[in-house]
Amino acid sequence: MKSVGFIGWRGMVGSVLLNRMREENDFLKITPHFFSTSQSGQYGPTINNIVFKNLKDAYNLNLLEEMDIIITCQGGSYTDTVYSKLRKNNWQGYWIDAASTLRMKDDSIIVLDPVNLKVIKKALDNGIKTFVGSNCTVSLMLMALGGLFSNNLIEWISVSTYQAASGAGAKYVIELLKQMGSLYNVVSQDLSNELSSILDIEKKISQKMKDNDFPLKYFSVPLAGSLIPWIDIDMGNGQSREEWKGQFETNKILGSKSKIIIDGTCVRISSIRCHSQSFLIKLNKNISLKNIEEIIVSHNKWVDFIPNNIQETICKLTPSAVTGTLKIPVGRVRKLSMGDKYFSAFTVGDQLLWGAAEPLRRMLNLLINI
Ligand code: HSE
Repeated sequence: MKSVGFIGWRGMVGSVLLNRMREENDFLKITPHFFSTSQSGQYGPTINNIVFKNLKDAYNLNLLEEMDIIITCQGGSYTDTVYSKLRKNNWQGYWIDAASTLRMKDDSIIVLDPVNLKVIKKALDNGIKTFVGSNCTVSLMLMALGGLFSNNLIEWISVSTYQAASGAGAKYVIELLKQMGSLYNVVSQDLSNELSSILDIEKKISQKMKDNDFPLKYFSVPLAGSLIPWIDIDMGNGQSREEWKGQFETNKILGSKSKIIIDGTCVRISSIRCHSQSFLIKLNKNISLKNIEEIIVSHNKWVDFIPNNIQETICKLTPSAVTGTLKIPVGRVRKLSMGDKYFSAFTVGDQLLWGAAEPLRRMLNLLINI
């Protein structure tokens, strides 16, 4: 059995990965080794009733080099520190990474096997050993619209995202919840008094967001009761890095020669762990809505087509309906007034599952079976 080293298994993405691996009995297929960047020697996780004692030092290259496969959810600075040293030492193992650091390198492949299994297999045949998970909005878009991409039907996509706090990290989720609690606390008594004025309640809420004690350490501005229309760094041309990834990572994943244009605005909202995306899509030919539906649903078994009616939309096409599942609902599909080739679609996906951990888990399984 292959020796697999896990780094960053305690964080949000790492924990979701371990849970999925437990659910799918993946640990029966490998010899796992758990590493830590700060707690080597201490206790690790419990897998199949076995407590992994004595965590290994995640900076010890000799120990890392004993692994056939390393899978890291530790983040970009860990990858920066360790990856090139291992490769310089001629380590020939497979590196699977959740961080973005290596995504656009020529000798790495971005993995999302329901969409690009052929690209992955070709890369394995060519001796590629570095496999990286894509940005979450990109994975979730491709899982939702994969059928349209594989049938080469898309001319361009304009996207607006509604991204969950979990995409920014665990500390941000906690801060969002603290913000929500802080807002609730300032009006809790008014809320149970039928005679309260809604404008007084709103004023207290708006004032609380400006108070010095409002929790702003990570987001730096209120997210609860508000939104933040910028994610990640400025690319220098008015586009955020999150917006840049939409087109560049998609085209790399697809490995296609012709480039599909994707652009839009990425927005952080107060959802906890599901990203949503609203698409305006221009097709390169006029096809019927029925056809579009068939193409979308036949792409993969996780896509769920939600008929464009009020009840099914509000019950099935929301973060609260999708969270914690592998479902990829696609709805609000209709032709737009711009013309026959233009239609809208809306999708929701769990940012920690298909958006992060699941493509890595599936890549690990492909490698185990080599
Ligand atoms: N960049 C994403 C976000 C994280 O900030 O929501 C997932 O790749």
